[in-house]
Amino acid sequence: MKKTITVRLKKHKYNIIISPSTKTFFSSLRKQIKTKTFFIISDKNIEKLHLKSLVNLFKQYGYNVHTAVISYGEKSKNIKNLSYLYNKALELGIDRKSCAIAFGGGVIGDIAGFFAATYMRGIDFIQIPTTLLAMTDSCVGGKTAINVTKGKNIAGAFYQPNLVWINTFFLESLPQRQIKNGLAEIIKYAFIFDKKFYNYLADLFENEIISSNDLDYIIYKSCFYKAEIVEKDERETIGLRAVLNFGHTYAHCLETATNYNRFLHGEAVAIGMLFAARLSLELKICKREVYYKVKNMLNITAFNLDTKNKPIKFLSLMKKDKKSVDGNINFVLIKDIGEVINKQVADKMVLNVLKKFRSI
Ligand SMILES: NC(=O)c1ccc[n+]([C@@H]2O[C@H](COP(=O)([O-])OP(=O)(O)OC[C@H]3O[C@@H](n4cnc5c(N)ncnc54)[C@H](O)[C@@H]3O)[C@@H](O)[C@H]2O)c1
Repeated sequence: MKKTITVRLKKHKYNIIISPSTKTFFSSLRKQIKTKTFFIISDKNIEKLHLKSLVNLFKQYGYNVHTAVISYGEKSKNIKNLSYLYNKALELGIDRKSCAIAFGGGVIGDIAGFFAATYMRGIDFIQIPTTLLAMTDSCVGGKTAINVTKGKNIAGAFYQPNLVWINTFFLESLPQRQIKNGLAEIIKYAFIFDKKFYNYLADLFENEIISSNDLDYIIYKSCFYKAEIVEKDERETIGLRAVLNFGHTYAHCLETATNYNRFLHGEAVAIGMLFAARLSLELKICKREVYYKVKNMLNITAFNLDTKNKPIKFLSLMKKDKKSVDGNINFVLIKDIGEVINKQVADKMVLNVLKKFRSI
């Protein structure tokens, strides 16, 4: 199955191709990108599994390919690796007409995207995501970033790719925990936008095995929704894009409080969505039935939803978050499945729910 989504922004347009066909990808690449020289950025896990075959593929199609490999995991999204990429690119003769390729999960997408945004003031850039999370979320939207010692995604830029190629073949080597990590973001799109999609997912999760057609479909739906929001609110200025942060206020402080080494992002988002639903319930924004629909879907996918937050610490972390405005904490809250709102919530209420949430 081949599906293409065109992301139309004010000054830029690009295609997301969801297809296992290399022919489809290269014919699109030929139309979008004029260079003959590519700089593939990847991590050590992908190097072992898939890098050689991608390099050979580019060579078969007559391109020059260079590679740079950094260590894997969140910690490698740092300034030292970024500096390594700049120097390596210079050494290899990558110039402003060359094209960078992010070949990996969201970590590689973010750092390679920031590299592409800043190397020689910006070069062309392709995303070839290899995790479910990167395929459904981080490869669309143009957010690029690295972490600094005191915070996540602190240095970054909005920089859109010229092309995205999603090939679910790469998921065959992805560990189950990472698959579930990506499912959290997919479920998030259903909660935010689409009751029908929620019902579709509820049926799908009853089955043990998800077919490749189903996989393509849920990736397509996720990219479609993300692209739609990004088209309307590219730089998160009119608040539309902020709905995608459903579950993220709590998730970010959970990740910070546990030094980013206990939860995967999607796992933290799953707990964060449950927290946002609980807050919505306490504020009487949603009915009990909606809260339980959120909880049940997260349970079906067998997320470990246990969380032992420290209410005062979490409150102060939430106030430091980028999503807090003038000291008030901004939450995306759920009214119904498929309908969310943005709302600033008083500290007292947040603290109250944080205390209750410990016992979930
Ligand atoms: N830019 C955005 O809009 C955006 C959105 C969401 C998340 N993010 C960022 O994405 C990052 C998380 O991304 P992630 O969950 O993909 O993590 P990741 O990139 O760290 O990948 C997870 C692990 O899976 C390995 N891996 C990747 N592909 C594989 C494959 N096909 N087979 C086997 N192993 C494979 C990686 O080496 C890594 O160890 C975070 O840094 C987060 O901030 C960015």
